Amino acid sequence: MAKVTIQKLQEMKNKGEKISYITAYDYGQATLVEKSGIEMILVGDSMSMTMLGNDSTVPLSTDAMIHHIKAVVKGAQTPMIVGDLVFGSYNESSKQAIRSANRLIKEGGCDTVKLEGCMPEVVARMVEGGIGVQGHIGLTPQTAGLLGGFKLQGKNLDAAKKIIDQAKSLEQAGAFSIVVECVPEELGRAITNAVSIPVIGIGAGRYCDGQVLVYHDLLGLFDKFAPKFVKKYANIGEQVVKALEEYKQEVKDVKFPSDEYVFGGLSKDDLKGFL
Ligand code: KIV
Repeated sequence: MAKVTIQKLQEMKNKGEKISYITAYDYGQATLVEKSGIEMILVGDSMSMTMLGNDSTVPLSTDAMIHHIKAVVKGAQTPMIVGDLVFGSYNESSKQAIRSANRLIKEGGCDTVKLEGCMPEVVARMVEGGIGVQGHIGLTPQTAGLLGGFKLQGKNLDAAKKIIDQAKSLEQAGAFSIVVECVPEELGRAITNAVSIPVIGIGAGRYCDGQVLVYHDLLGLFDKFAPKFVKKYANIGEQVVKALEEYKQEVKDVKFPSDEYVFGGLSKDDLKGFL
């Protein structure tokens, strides 16, 4: 299968073909996403919570992000791999943003980067510098505290207009796509119609050009909290606990390892005197 490019995603939007997008954070997860045919992988800073047990995405470092991008890149050849710029790595200046994005691409090996918020001048400079940038507006988890917490955004006309304007200015700055998180469905539709680049929703309704979900949420691997917009397609966490409990019991009952899992080669007689 050919690598998914910015051009391919744009073609998909133009044809009305929906884009599927999911997070992944390590080699094993990436190999499974590759097999599924999903078009995009986000090495998201959500790993701070799902993989590293932090309470928010804020503490994650660029070094940690690069470490995970490298593993994902080895596991998935076809999807576009987007590296998430971590909090504090792009909010000082365009220079800082370009330096951080260069590291994710050169050291990590991802194809493009994503950043939260609306900083069109920064995005424009990054794009001029040859970096593919995906925006992220609506609920932006890195700065959720400023937005009243993990809450629905754009609930009234003024707030909705502001988010539509942000989408337009990101498009104008040269972003190749925008993620819109946790907004009313009709606002998701309005944003998707307002710009010509692909709009990917997470809790933004059915009319976006594509959908993104967090790997651990979709598979039932994270149970600290579950936003309304998450559909659990499997409950792998429960299956893992069941398997671990069964293993533990078989060890205690000396049922594991049974015949098929042990090596012959020496008999009791051979080791007479030692047993
Ligand atoms: O880091 C992440 O998982 C994200 C998604 C919520 C889009 O940014």
